[in-house]
Amino acid sequence: MEKKKNGFASGIGFILAAAGSAVGLGNLWGFPFKTSANGGAAFVFVYIACVLFIGAVTMIAEIYIGKRAAANTVSSYKKINKNFGWAGLLVLLIPFLITCYYSVLGGYTLKYTLNSFAGNEGILGTFSVNIGEVILYTALFMVLALVIVMAGIKGGIEKASKVLMPVLFLILVFIVIFCLFLGEGVQAGLNKYLNPDFYAFFHDAEGNLSFNGLLAAMGQAFFSLSLGMGAMVCYGSYTGKEIKVGKSVAMICIFDTCVAFLAGLAMFPAIGALAPEQLNTSGGVGLMFAILPLVFARMGAFGQVISFLFFAMVAIAAITSVISLVEVVTQLIVQKTKMSRKKSALVVMAIAFAISVPVGISLGRVAILEEAGLNLFGFDMLTFFDEATNAVLMPLGAFAACFAIGWLFGEKKTLADWFSPKALVARLEEDGLHLGKFSMVFAVMIKYVTPVLILFLDVSGIITNVTKNPNYWFIVGFSLLLIIISAVFYFLFLKKSNTGCNADELAAEEVEEASAE
Ligand code: PHE
Repeated sequence: MEKKKNGFASGIGFILAAAGSAVGLGNLWGFPFKTSANGGAAFVFVYIACVLFIGAVTMIAEIYIGKRAAANTVSSYKKINKNFGWAGLLVLLIPFLITCYYSVLGGYTLKYTLNSFAGNEGILGTFSVNIGEVILYTALFMVLALVIVMAGIKGGIEKASKVLMPVLFLILVFIVIFCLFLGEGVQAGLNKYLNPDFYAFFHDAEGNLSFNGLLAAMGQAFFSLSLGMGAMVCYGSYTGKEIKVGKSVAMICIFDTCVAFLAGLAMFPAIGALAPEQLNTSGGVGLMFAILPLVFARMGAFGQVISFLFFAMVAIAAITSVISLVEVVTQLIVQKTKMSRKKSALVVMAIAFAISVPVGISLGRVAILEEAGLNLFGFDMLTFFDEATNAVLMPLGAFAACFAIGWLFGEKKTLADWFSPKALVARLEEDGLHLGKFSMVFAVMIKYVTPVLILFLDVSGIITNVTKNPNYWFIVGFSLLLIIISAVFYFLFLKKSNTGCNADELAAEEVEEASAE
């Protein structure tokens, strides 16, 4: 009998699942409005460069770190270096926090999908403060994701991604074509989205030189590609010989970027044609949950169908992302505690749900700009967690992956072994990572370029934010606290103990099956 493996059944299954993780609210919502706000095609251009030089390089590192260990993120980083296992714990806290607010937004998308035929125009103000309903839809969203994670990698995540991702793509293409033919105003929308404006890209509203566009592009690339939060390490760990890391990463990046680009190509022409007065206010929460419903309402009867398809697509994108976040945490719990997958996933989701309740309440209060409501140091909870994860911790998680492969990985005997990219290529090839003609480029990037750019992104982002708002230090402090907790917890409880691997889950299942017979 062929040896069973705990993981993806096929290379394409893995690629679709990873693309499912990558394609999410960041693509369908964040990318379009960031592009229009930061110089249009100038932003797209720089974004693509970021995907190539920073994103793809980091993704290769992450997937490979997981793949070579075939284990949870803690064990995977531990396998690179025993003293670096805490990075695996840190990149696991990040997805946990993201789950808590991402699911609230996921709940919104479900509400908007199901409510499409009644009409979503103007409901943001009433829905977002209807605490019971917000919690209900958040819960519904979490249950859907939970069911998929409970069913495992092959039977749950892979199966769901294989169906949902093609559906998402077809809906998107259909909507883009529909919107591009809405007639007058389409061109104005396209101009708003893509008109290349390098001046706007490099200057702030007051006309001062600013790197905010660049920072936005880099940050967006990380978030959109699901980097720096263990998701790719985790999915990578479930792959075997059937995938080539470099090729898979190329496909995931291309798919992710195309979806993001197309999303803007659907939204802006539609806004330009049907709600041109909104073209200049199309940012933030409003774009997806206030302006688009208005646009759909003005499309007439067919608008309800388009609205349903559109929000169903967004919900699909959000679900296939959230399952990757939950899986990162579930994987460690299953493997470390030997609790069953179903129970572990349930525990993770239950705790995330408990936290998401105040997040959902806090978001609603801010969305209607009512009294400040539940907040953390002057931030609504969603912004607080979102900033802590995206702006501070996620770049550090990505840095950890680059540092692990670029500097910690493998045995180094001479000084040249430490510093030469060539020596790194040799070590990686010996270990099983073959990148062909790109291997030297990869080695130079991951050692010298990508980590430096990431640190630049992180530090300058923090500086910009604290100068704007001193309370931002609380967000930085909270992030540092998480880093310290990861390190202390790791050295006290995990470093010396067995933190498990993917095969353990399979072994446990086999024992269970045998005893059931
Ligand atoms: N990449 C997802 C998006 O674009 C978000 C995400 C981040 C999902 C991290 C999983 C892990 O929305």
